[in-house]
Amino acid sequence: MTSNRDLEATWAYHNGTKHSFQSIRSSRHFLDRQNQPLPFKVYPALEPIPLPRLEPSGAPALTALAATDSEPLGECVPGLELLGRFLYYSAGITKRIRSPQGEMSFRAASCTGALYHIDLYLVCGDLPGLEAGVYHFGVHDFALRRLQRGDFREELVRAAAAEPAVAQAPATLACSSTFWRNAWKYQARTYRHCFWDSGTILANLLAVAAGHRLPARMVCGFVDSQVNRLLGLDHQREVALALVPLGRSADGIGQAPAVEPLELETMPLSRSEVDYPGIRTIHEASSLTGEAEVAAWRGPAPPTSLPPPSGRLVALRPASAVDAPQDSIEAVILRRGSSRRFAREPLTLAGLSTILNWAARGIPVDFLEPEGTSLNDLYLIVNAVEGLPSGAYVFHRDRQALELLKQGEFRNEAGDLGLEQALPADASVDVFFLAELRPVLERFGNRGYRVAQIEAGIIGGRLYLAAYALGLGASGLTFYDDEVTDFFSPHAAGKSVMFLVALGHPAKRGSHRAEEKTVS
Ligand SMILES: Cc1cc2nc3c(=O)[nH]c(=O)nc-3n(C[C@H](O)[C@H](O)[C@H](O)COP(=O)(O)O)c2cc1C
Repeated sequence: MTSNRDLEATWAYHNGTKHSFQSIRSSRHFLDRQNQPLPFKVYPALEPIPLPRLEPSGAPALTALAATDSEPLGECVPGLELLGRFLYYSAGITKRIRSPQGEMSFRAASCTGALYHIDLYLVCGDLPGLEAGVYHFGVHDFALRRLQRGDFREELVRAAAAEPAVAQAPATLACSSTFWRNAWKYQARTYRHCFWDSGTILANLLAVAAGHRLPARMVCGFVDSQVNRLLGLDHQREVALALVPLGRSADGIGQAPAVEPLELETMPLSRSEVDYPGIRTIHEASSLTGEAEVAAWRGPAPPTSLPPPSGRLVALRPASAVDAPQDSIEAVILRRGSSRRFAREPLTLAGLSTILNWAARGIPVDFLEPEGTSLNDLYLIVNAVEGLPSGAYVFHRDRQALELLKQGEFRNEAGDLGLEQALPADASVDVFFLAELRPVLERFGNRGYRVAQIEAGIIGGRLYLAAYALGLGASGLTFYDDEVTDFFSPHAAGKSVMFLVALGHPAKRGSHRAEEKTVS
């Protein structure tokens, strides 16, 4: 088995899954619609425990986005009702759309290809309304199903090498990806999508938890095999990606029962499945194998800083928490949906500033210490923002300013970089996430690749929410890797692209949103 320190595994995967003009044109892959996988994990033999729906928290969306886990003010032990709310607003079905082909359901968070390969599990002690156990969240019928009875939290605490938030949490959510559900379309590139698509879910989850003043934190350092085993995952097909301890309790965690292998029937996903060994290889190579390795892995991020600005600097002018729109985080999540077409209308500088200011704040995680550190730099193509010359920019988080790298009209280039799609050309602004992987991998090993991607996914998810809080639109996008780095070079030389989000005004017509129905 390749060790987390054998960094060639990451470079082989990353370089091998880059999109280029040539790779797209020479691909022979086609979508076998008859074999499209089910977008749900269903345990047909287990009794559903229906989840209640609740009123929104009312917490303003933007404030919730920027909250950290440091100042819990409210209830610290979530009950079944609160958990239901968290699950609904992070991964539940929020919209159904009818078309001549049938009905399609859409969820609280965006997901590549709407293929929904991420599942959520719950490991908890006794909670109000729920017995201690290991549960799976069934998205299709909004219910939990118990996989194991008993308090198994100690098992997670050991897997996470006594990470303090896990050790004090009455409940921890775990997210997983079933590769095939996404690889059906995206092949080996799915491994990147594991982190993008769990990132958008986690952005919602962290924001909704913050709206309820419930401590929540993301933990990426854990012994993979131990967590997979506890959740009963067939690790060749489905793996745990991140843990989110929720709440805080002073009660100690007792000894966990022995974990027996779970052999629970699940509904077949499709007629047959295709294995992409490259996905399993990079996952194994970025796995942590023991508690000592986890403890050593966790901690400060490598120092990364942008060179001091040498181009023109434009100070951001974000709205304050008081002046910003007050729509609740839940209302914003319900109206979120990727823009299918943008009108070529400008954003205001205040609007763009507010989005960046609220979305790009620190994330409470175990690999970004001190809080506020980031592994990704944000590079922008500005197509239309009032008061800002069109051009390429880099965002200086510490100065809350944009540095102009080159001025010009780059709509055509933006369209080309975003896989030759209209969305990035029509958007007002395209935000690219670039990470200097070398120091990240030096510090975190191959697992640094996972966390750089998931950080981008979370900030990308927050960009969506901040845009929708302001009544704007957004869409995640895929991209031509090296061409993006070249476009922003020499400034971005040596960096790798992790994520892309387009921001703008949704076009009034042509959006599938016209036929949608909100599920309440
Ligand atoms: C990381 C990411 C990349 C995406 N890439 C594209 C893309 O290249 N083109 C596109 O039209 N939509 C893209 N989308 C949008 C998804 O298709 C959309 O999220 C999905 O259909 C679910 O719809 P919803 O976001 O409206 O709920 C992307 C979404 C994400 C999260």
